[in-house]
Amino acid sequence: MPVAELRGVTKRYGAVEALRGIDLSIAPGELLALLGPNGAGKTTAVRILLGLAAPTSGEAAIFGHHPASRQAKLRRGALLQVGRVPETLKVQEHIELFSSYYEKPLPIAETIAAAGLAGIENRLFGALSGGQKQRVLFALAICGNPDLLFLDEPTVGLDVESRRALWTRIRGFVARGGSVLLTTHYLDEADALAHRVAVIDRGRIAAEGTPAEIKAQTGTSVLEDAFLAIMKENGNALEEVLQ
Ligand SMILES: Nc1ncnc2c1ncn2[C@@H]1O[C@H](COP(=O)(O)OP(=O)(O)OP(=O)(O)O)[C@@H](O)[C@H]1O
Ligand SMILES: [Mg+2]
Repeated sequence: MPVAELRGVTKRYGAVEALRGIDLSIAPGELLALLGPNGAGKTTAVRILLGLAAPTSGEAAIFGHHPASRQAKLRRGALLQVGRVPETLKVQEHIELFSSYYEKPLPIAETIAAAGLAGIENRLFGALSGGQKQRVLFALAICGNPDLLFLDEPTVGLDVESRRALWTRIRGFVARGGSVLLTTHYLDEADALAHRVAVIDRGRIAAEGTPAEIKAQTGTSVLEDAFLAIMKENGNALEEVLQ
């Protein structure tokens, strides 16, 4: 059984068709990278799988449960693209609060270590740098010891070392049997981490496969070139893609 699944999902916001019939599934232990230009529908797909938005039509399931159900929520964690937490709580207080929502959270010290927050656990969230805040949001995603992680552009604004450190943490999570849905605009990141890639363009899946398959299909050796070839083939003007 897939750990996460979208079946024939559409999502309409007024005149905007954010998703136009998406089928997507994540297997146990798999890291799926969902790629696509700005506005393609990636965050919308993530929000539907988190139960934060309802599909206009079609179905979504997490471990066979409704995405908004308690059974689903207890087994997943998320780092959202526009993640917001109160500025006036300390790092450790945020982690304690989030951990309390779960039945079997990681020990607080383990979460702090796993997210690279040792030494800054007593700082106010509002006093952290952008990259440090991003690490706290990662900590909040993993503190419940989830089986499935949603990471929506988790490495935005991170310096090179922090980005690589986060890659190591994500790989560690997968090595322990976790599954991940990752969105990123850094295609080297997707190439380095993903077992499988799904490219979404204007609400539809434009290509799907392992990074090697996607590159082979497009006759390219770099995932970024493959991505641009897929966009071009899909009639998405380069200027539009690069906006
Ligand atoms: N709450 C909303 N109300 C109205 N329109 C929305 C809403 N959320 C998303 N949209 C629209 O749906 C489309 C898909 O947005 P989405 O955030 O899913 O894109 P994305 O692939 O995550 O893009 P990005 O790479 O910029 O994060 C966009 O046209 C966006 O403007
Ligand atoms: Mg997004």
